[in-house]
Amino acid sequence: MTISVGFLSAAFLLVLQETIFVASAFDPSPLQDFCVAVDEPKSAVFVNGKFCKNPKFVRAEDFLFRGLNIAGNTMNKQGSNVTLVNVDRLPGLNTLGISLARIDYAPNGLNPPHTHPRATEILVVVEGTLLVGFVTSNPNKLFTKVLNKGDVFVFPVGLIHFQFNVGHYPALAFAGLSSQNPGVITIANAVFGSDPPISIDVLTKAFQVDNNVIHALMKQFKA
Ligand SMILES: *[C@@H]1O[C@H](CO)[C@@H](O)[C@H](O)[C@H]1NC(C)=O
Repeated sequence: MTISVGFLSAAFLLVLQETIFVASAFDPSPLQDFCVAVDEPKSAVFVNGKFCKNPKFVRAEDFLFRGLNIAGNTMNKQGSNVTLVNVDRLPGLNTLGISLARIDYAPNGLNPPHTHPRATEILVVVEGTLLVGFVTSNPNKLFTKVLNKGDVFVFPVGLIHFQFNVGHYPALAFAGLSSQNPGVITIANAVFGSDPPISIDVLTKAFQVDNNVIHALMKQFKA
């Protein structure tokens, strides 16, 4: 049997269309100078991102966020605080595929293992000493370093990563992220603190431990 050229090109087009569709699920490349995010029109159709403000009404303030000089409060269990400037806090970021975070760490403070489903992260240490690392998808290889002031480390998109303040003083880092809305999945909270909770049977089998261990962990991370 011969396969016609027509059939082949149709199949090729289908593959091409699929590729284009998948690519559009990421932060789009801007087709204009900017697209300042606006919440209205209310109850309109879903768009991948936010609606654009009428350029006539765009002001310099739409591209401005003030206050990243202010430390986040690290008096919590983990001893860290992330102040994220994403499209929700800086509407001018809409469609631009970028955002910024300030991360404060108390002595021994931890930014616990987490992933950003939509962003690669590039981190620079401004104060202190951080033990950082990320783990690859299977097989799970750890890449880790101790960073000092001025050191830069990159966490590839989607991979589980962490930062731990191993110094005796507070530490400070800033991070650029390759999405206007990187998203964050904190591993322990997602697994043991979801709402509603994941079935105990699933978690005991997944982690190969007894019920009481899972219950204790769930208590720690209850949503
Ligand atoms: C982070 O710091 C801000 C500002 O001090 C505070 O409002 C917020 O509750 C802190 N978050 C955590 C998780 O401690």
